[in-house]
Amino acid sequence: MRAATWMFLICLLIGQFNSDLCGASPVDGANEYQDDDYDYNDEDDAGTGSPPLVAEEVLSAPPYFEQPDIVLKAKPGDDVILNCDARNFDISNVAMWYRQSTVLSNGLTAVSNRVEVLRNNSLRLASVTPEDGDDYYCVILPQNVRQHTALTVGARLSILCDDRDVTDRSQTFKQGDHHRLVCQTFLPTSTAIKWSFNGQRLSTSAEDTANGVVVLDNVDEENAGVYQCLGDDGSADPPHGMVSVDVQYSPKVSTHRHHVNAEEGGSAEIYCDYRANPIAISFFIKDGKTLSLSDKYSIKNSLHKQHNRTTLRVKDVDEGDLGEYLCHVENAIGSNEVRVQLSYAPETPQFENSTVEGNKVTMHWLVRSMQPLSEAVLDYKLSKSIRWSTVSMIKTQHHNSGKESGVWKITHEIELTPGLWHVRVKTKNTKGWSNFAPNHDIIIQDPEDASVESPPEDLVRAGFGIGGGSDEAEKKNAASTIGLMSGLMLSAGSIALLRL
Ligand SMILES: *[C@@H]1O[C@H](CO)[C@@H](O)[C@H](O)[C@H]1NC(C)=O
Ligand SMILES: *[C@@H]1O[C@H](CO)[C@@H](O)[C@H](O)[C@H]1NC(C)=O
Ligand SMILES: *[C@@H]1O[C@H](CO)[C@@H](O)[C@H](O)[C@H]1NC(C)=O
Repeated sequence: MRAATWMFLICLLIGQFNSDLCGASPVDGANEYQDDDYDYNDEDDAGTGSPPLVAEEVLSAPPYFEQPDIVLKAKPGDDVILNCDARNFDISNVAMWYRQSTVLSNGLTAVSNRVEVLRNNSLRLASVTPEDGDDYYCVILPQNVRQHTALTVGARLSILCDDRDVTDRSQTFKQGDHHRLVCQTFLPTSTAIKWSFNGQRLSTSAEDTANGVVVLDNVDEENAGVYQCLGDDGSADPPHGMVSVDVQYSPKVSTHRHHVNAEEGGSAEIYCDYRANPIAISFFIKDGKTLSLSDKYSIKNSLHKQHNRTTLRVKDVDEGDLGEYLCHVENAIGSNEVRVQLSYAPETPQFENSTVEGNKVTMHWLVRSMQPLSEAVLDYKLSKSIRWSTVSMIKTQHHNSGKESGVWKITHEIELTPGLWHVRVKTKNTKGWSNFAPNHDIIIQDPEDASVESPPEDLVRAGFGIGGGSDEAEKKNAASTIGLMSGLMLSAGSIALLRL
């Protein structure tokens, strides 16, 4: 009796740690609870792959799945195993596989020759294709307990943006973003990845595009468009995909006239051009105050191909209207500004065109000034020189036509030695000087260089005017020496001012 009592006590103590030992002992009481524990342990064993154990107690527990829904992704060509890992599966149970409502297998017997049933009820699909992607069901009979497996098989080609599949979708990027577009193919044959952007082949940083990667660093407006990837496998129908990229950026603001000329009592138009995405609003500021519509100011918005334009019209101009106007444009991303000066001085001259015949250059500039132009100055220098040489305007010509537009044409003829020249112009009216126009470059061909490629008639014409003999380097040296420059200039024509 002593021994039996000890056994009982030991069982009470260790029972909760090892019900197996105590369940086997011939001790009465607390058996029901311990047997339940035994069942659970048994199931865990079955779950790890050993054949289902059949115990009388198990028969009452219905089979179930820990995960009723499974999502499975595969690449084309993979061998895929769909598991049917039911708990409490026993000898009285049968597993059936369905694809949608079509039976694929009954027990361990495959009905469809596309599949193979494994001993553990798993379904094997060898070398899957995108067409194998579908909803599969494993049903345990007779309880009709089911598990759903959604199988997707990657396309032959897909485009990933920062590791997300974006094939044939659109993406919105923000200015300054960094993104990686990867073109991925699952093809048995070797494939050349070819990217294009808005229909143009992309060949920037060749190594990256060869690996199917397009890196967009510091994204901006110009990156918006359609990116297409083609997996050139040599076939007639190569796989391809696209992604449409939209870029949101803060407004880009500009004006084609930074200086606007006006005459007292006249009116002036100030232009503000901008591009923005998303849509932007614009307004003008003068002396810190936002301008509102009045007898003085009117505003017009217009749509152009490359930009949107807001035009401020200032009426009955007087001294108080002169000065700086700020055009402020803002959208959800940010804001930007452009500054415009209103003055009585001529606007900055604009280079129109030029002709070069041998050493003789004829140049045309346009200038706006409602007031008569009184003077114009042309600066010129060889690109290597530091100092400018200057020619002053000599004669003025008035043209009655187009007087209202205030547009003047400056024409100048000059003969220059061979080399790269910079020229610039400024003008004066009765109220003051304009700014210099931006430098314009003029190349005078060396007739000795030109003789190599030019047709014969050009050779004849180019032959005049240049001192013979000396080699090219010597000439360039001489020309870049400031002291010699005016000497080398063969002749300077006059500047003509024409009112258009
Ligand atoms: C079933 O067997 C296959 C092949 O042996 C194995 O890959 C798969 O993991 C098994 N499934 C389960 C649930 O054990
Ligand atoms: C110009 O404005 C319109 C709306 O007024 C907008 O739809 C369009 O995108 C804008 N264009 C540019 C280049 O910002
Ligand atoms: C320069 O522009 C004017 C129009 O402003 C044109 O008549 C002339 O043919 C142009 N000359 C050249 C060389 O393009």
